[in-house]
Amino acid sequence: MAKYIIQGGNRLEGEVEIKGAKNSILPILAATVISGEVSKISNIPQLRDVEVMTKILLSIGAKVEKEGDQLLIDTSSIDKTQLPEELVREMRSSIILMGALLARFGEVSVSYPGGCEIGPRPIDLHLKSLRQMGAIIEESHGFLHCRSLGLQGADIQLDYPSVGATENIMLAASIAEGRTIIRNAAREPEIIDLQDYLRKAGAKIKGAGTSVITVEGVPSLKGCSHRIIPDRIVAGTLMVAATITKGEMVVKDIVVEHLQSTVAKLRETGANIFINGNAIKLIGPERVEPIELLQTLPYPGFPTDMQAQFMALLTIGNGTSIINETVFENRFKHAEELVRMGANIKTFGKVAVIKGVKELTGARMYAKDLRGGAALVLAGLAAEGITEVENTFHISRGYENFHNLLQGLGANISCVK
Ligand code: EPZ
Repeated sequence: MAKYIIQGGNRLEGEVEIKGAKNSILPILAATVISGEVSKISNIPQLRDVEVMTKILLSIGAKVEKEGDQLLIDTSSIDKTQLPEELVREMRSSIILMGALLARFGEVSVSYPGGCEIGPRPIDLHLKSLRQMGAIIEESHGFLHCRSLGLQGADIQLDYPSVGATENIMLAASIAEGRTIIRNAAREPEIIDLQDYLRKAGAKIKGAGTSVITVEGVPSLKGCSHRIIPDRIVAGTLMVAATITKGEMVVKDIVVEHLQSTVAKLRETGANIFINGNAIKLIGPERVEPIELLQTLPYPGFPTDMQAQFMALLTIGNGTSIINETVFENRFKHAEELVRMGANIKTFGKVAVIKGVKELTGARMYAKDLRGGAALVLAGLAAEGITEVENTFHISRGYENFHNLLQGLGANISCVK
């Protein structure tokens, strides 16, 4: 298993261009299924989750070609509607293919995506909504068998603004009969990017970015070209890396609006931040200030996907910080690893109390999930001595060549196989 070896203490400095967002690429790759034509999706970094989604598309009969940072996806040859269990288990968000395959073929079979490292992650909102659109869903032996004689538009009130459920309904509704309204919809930027792709493909859809999305079903979609929005979580992670190492960094090719909540919290820690068009310059503080309360919320609140990175930062804060993780049940696995570096963290269910220490010391740690893994690397960059981070495969799900990227910014990090 590959691991990172980090010699802490270097200030990170330099400029970095941010590539396409994992959480936008995955639903858009799923959406390409609906047209049955060729779509060209660009600004795609080399990520393990993208490889898994590509394998799933190939396994149901699609043709996928890679050219630089572009994927050419031809879904005219899809001839299967059963998703391979082992790949679905590897990547939960393949569940978004349900709406696309049901819409185009009227059937799909998929294994129940169990929980993952960050919580039980039920899909009840997905199933309830698809049933409301007329899908018949049978659950047997850990599998979901879904079919419909033609999905119908519906007025759907989501109990929670779930990102995945909103995306699944948007895909299902795009060629369903009639109008679908999604109330209390997720408002993440990735939802807007999905709407932009669907519109280019001929869908009649509006309201993404607000809590009410309306879709007028059309007979079919067509192939099209689309460039993925920049990854706000990768950008945020690198800005925390600059802050925790007292560094200086410019993150470029971003949408500043998508990072407002992250910027606001970084300013609270004492970082100096300058915004210039689609770039942000950050200068890290000599001593990190604590954050009285950091609460994760659906967008535009503070993203849960930045929580772990901020916990790592606040371990060396000049005082006590409190984190309230409201989105996922079990997203503090990184805390026990950070404590091995001398951090002072107490967790009580969804609340963590972090008492800042003067310095972390290097240790051997195990990444247990994507963002938690990235947080351990950030802590290693600031720690005294050598840190080893095992299970880097978690990190490569959402960060392209993470160690090379950080090396380019002055970090002393290597990856040993
Ligand atoms: C998306 O996951 C992201 N993944 C996650 O990023 C992100 O953490 C999450 O949204 C929240 O922002 C992708 O986009 C591929 P949800 P998703 O449905 O769609 C509960 C990363 O690190 N819920 O909005 O699975 C659920 O259990 C990943 O890149 C139900 O109860 O998130 C959770 O507590 C991790 N029933 C909450 O809602 C449902 O049917 C938010 O889940 C669906 C969700």
